[in-house]
Amino acid sequence: MSALFDRDGTLCVEGVSLTDVAARHGTPCFVYSRAALEAAYREFDGAFAGTPHLTCYAVKANSNLAVLDVFARLGSGFDVVSGGELARVLAAGGDPRKIVFSGVGKSEAELRQGLELGIHCFNVESSSELARLDRIAGTLGTRAPVSLRVNPDVDPRTHPYISTGLKESKFGIAFAEALPLYRRAAGLANVVVRGIDIHIGSQITALEPYREAAMKVLELVDALASAGIHLEHVDLGGGIGIRYRDETPVDLASYAAMIAKLFGGRRESLLFEPGRRLTGNAGILLTRVAYLKPGERSFAVVDAAMNDLLRPALYDAWHDVRPVRRCNERPRIWQIVGPVCESADFLARDRELALVEGDLLAILSAGAYAMVMSSNYNSRPRAAEVLVEGTTMHLVGRRESVGELFARESRLP
Ligand code: LLP
Repeated sequence: MSALFDRDGTLCVEGVSLTDVAARHGTPCFVYSRAALEAAYREFDGAFAGTPHLTCYAVKANSNLAVLDVFARLGSGFDVVSGGELARVLAAGGDPRKIVFSGVGKSEAELRQGLELGIHCFNVESSSELARLDRIAGTLGTRAPVSLRVNPDVDPRTHPYISTGLKESKFGIAFAEALPLYRRAAGLANVVVRGIDIHIGSQITALEPYREAAMKVLELVDALASAGIHLEHVDLGGGIGIRYRDETPVDLASYAAMIAKLFGGRRESLLFEPGRRLTGNAGILLTRVAYLKPGERSFAVVDAAMNDLLRPALYDAWHDVRPVRRCNERPRIWQIVGPVCESADFLARDRELALVEGDLLAILSAGAYAMVMSSNYNSRPRAAEVLVEGTTMHLVGRRESVGELFARESRLP
């Protein structure tokens, strides 16, 4: 994380020490850096400065209102996958005309909500969704802007749970079916064909799958043009990976150069849907060591758990763990685990650390797919969220209370 500093032996996010964050807001607590969020957005968006494009931040990666607010102020568009995300973008001051609506199962109410708001485009994933959208737009007396999300059958070479562009996946429209469906779309009274969309997977660290997918898409765009269907934009989705451990992430300048080569001189503008790349390394999860259980296998039980950060349990994901203050204890190999009653409740395995009970730990790269995937499992209130700006900390998500956990529920009459 670019905004994480060691100041006199204490870890700080920008100008705020993590010891102060814990003292003020407790643990577990997510801490985001505004400077890191802004730098990531500017780096991404700036890489495509020479090409007409719209960056639509993928809200699913981190949907905290303050995070959306930071991006909205920078002029970002947004990629949403539910009515809930749509409502968040509006609450954060996002521009509906820069929203694309993705997802394989949009409900009738969600389609209506998008139409009423006048969003930029629906990324349609099936012929049934197209028909439904046409019908609803008709009843509203409007026309629905549409891209078809096609499935280019490309291997993104990432974790199977986050691969989405292979033909066996549930996502998108099979390539062979795309042309006839575009023809049908072009003939619908309440639909305007705007573009084409792909999203091949997440945490992708190679450029080749993007090249392969983009070339397939361009072939289709040209075939459509020959059939008299001219597209305004190509949406290349998200998926650009970050460094968690020792990965070599895609260099954005090389990505942009490859795109410029493929799209230079063409009429279509581009759309991107980056999520992880904009937020992943702009946040950490702050947790405190509750108990140490040294032994043949030594466990450090911390107050964050799989309900706060599911990625290690779900994908065997590796997140760096750093003590907030250096200590003089003898280092040993620790299993960093949470209080949840599951053996899968680990945050990190086999880490050599010098620890004492009460120490604070920073779990890195927790700005994306962390808080958004958290749950109340074991009736654990969700963590607090703090956004640091220089030497100021803003509480942007207060810790859930135990009362809130069952406020929706009731006993039998
Ligand atoms: N666009 C679409 C249509 C998507 O489905 C996704 C992510 C994105 C954009 C943003 O992808 P990104 O740039 O963040 O890779 N929970 C998993 C990641 C799931 C990604 C789902 N789709 C994880 O923790 O690794």
